[in-house]
Amino acid sequence: MALDRYYTLGRSGLRVSPLALGTMTFGENWGWGASEEVARGMFDRYLAAGGNFVDTADLYTEGRSEELLGRFIADSGSRDRVVLATKFSYNAQPGNPNAGGNGRKNILRALEGSLRRLRTDYVDLYLLHTWDRITPAEEVLQTLDDLVRAGKIRYAGLSDVPAWYAAHLQTLARAHGMHALVNLQLQYSLVERNIEREYVPLAQELGLGITAWSPLAMGLLSGKYKPSEAGRDGEGEGRLQAIKSMGLPSLMDKFTPRNWAIVAEVEQVARESGLSMAQVAVQWATRRPGLGSVILGARNLAQFEDNLAALDRPLDEAALRRLDGVSALPSQFPYSFFEPTQQVGIHGGVGVGDKPAGYAPPVWIDPAPTPAYAGDTAEAAR
Ligand SMILES: NC(=O)c1ccc[n+]([C@@H]2O[C@H](COP(=O)([O-])OP(=O)(O)OC[C@H]3O[C@@H](n4cnc5c(N)ncnc54)[C@H](OP(=O)(O)O)[C@@H]3O)[C@@H](O)[C@H]2O)c1
Repeated sequence: MALDRYYTLGRSGLRVSPLALGTMTFGENWGWGASEEVARGMFDRYLAAGGNFVDTADLYTEGRSEELLGRFIADSGSRDRVVLATKFSYNAQPGNPNAGGNGRKNILRALEGSLRRLRTDYVDLYLLHTWDRITPAEEVLQTLDDLVRAGKIRYAGLSDVPAWYAAHLQTLARAHGMHALVNLQLQYSLVERNIEREYVPLAQELGLGITAWSPLAMGLLSGKYKPSEAGRDGEGEGRLQAIKSMGLPSLMDKFTPRNWAIVAEVEQVARESGLSMAQVAVQWATRRPGLGSVILGARNLAQFEDNLAALDRPLDEAALRRLDGVSALPSQFPYSFFEPTQQVGIHGGVGVGDKPAGYAPPVWIDPAPTPAYAGDTAEAAR
């Protein structure tokens, strides 16, 4: 089981498993989750397999996910071992704008609630859950920095924000000597690869590890849908049907011709490799550049066991290339503009080539204090 290999998250000393335990399904009050007994089974199984990285949010199942996790961690005595991530942003008090969003007042309110439900006095990784479009970057950063200094959180990161905003925060943190962010948590799967354009290079350049949510596209790639079912668009049981019946438009666009072609290739690769479709989809995500950890979501133990074994048997390069090919992103501006002009128009026909592996990996050099002007030093020495 590959879960007990621990990788550093971003440019930090925090070591996490390549598969994280997602707990959005812990609790039944959203209509697609797991009972306490089943959730406990998944938690215990994850720890037994060597996993150490657990993701929740104050939003999930209206706090129930955090409550259950707090109970499981306390009962198993695993607080030191677990890297516990939770999130703030979502409003807990209708009518009160300061009980949501990313302002200082809400971050402090939200953290106190999470610590209480999680039965702990610190969070390992505290994430801004979703951009609120109004809070200044400096306010978010200063608050997170204060929380690290106060010992209430160990590290901070961002989820579901524009790439420019993440780059802005990270650059400000570095330039002003604040604790840098270590994690970007974003949606990533064979059917949702948009983060590859901006976020993956950003993460690699600025020392952020990416954690991928919904690696099975909320069930589309899990094996419960087959290409032969294309056009039936969500009959049967499962989360996608529950979402469909709730009429959440941003989550309902999964049944497209492009996605059915991807499902078909996943099924083919699964048949040839002896892996399940869910394992193929999860393993593909873990092997993409910039990925720190892939967050598993499951509703029952059988699904969890399936997903947990995703790394047991490596897919060969040819299979990975086929999956890359069928799900490739169309080229878009500005990449469609400057990529074709590079070789001749910019580099004068002189090969640039990729740097050999290990050559000058991008490492952030913290700005040194401005050196004294040499002339002044010379003056002073006279
Ligand atoms: N930061 C964010 O905004 C954000 C957003 C979403 C999630 N997350 C995090 O990411 C985690 C994973 O996200 P996700 O739950 O959406 O992941 P996912 O893997 O895309 O979807 C999980 C769902 O797919 C189905 N499934 C999973 N494994 C299966 C298997 N082996 N066979 C058949 N069906 C299977 C189950 O749904 P059904 O059986 O009910 O169909 C399960 O609930 C969450 O728990 C949460 O921690 C973060």
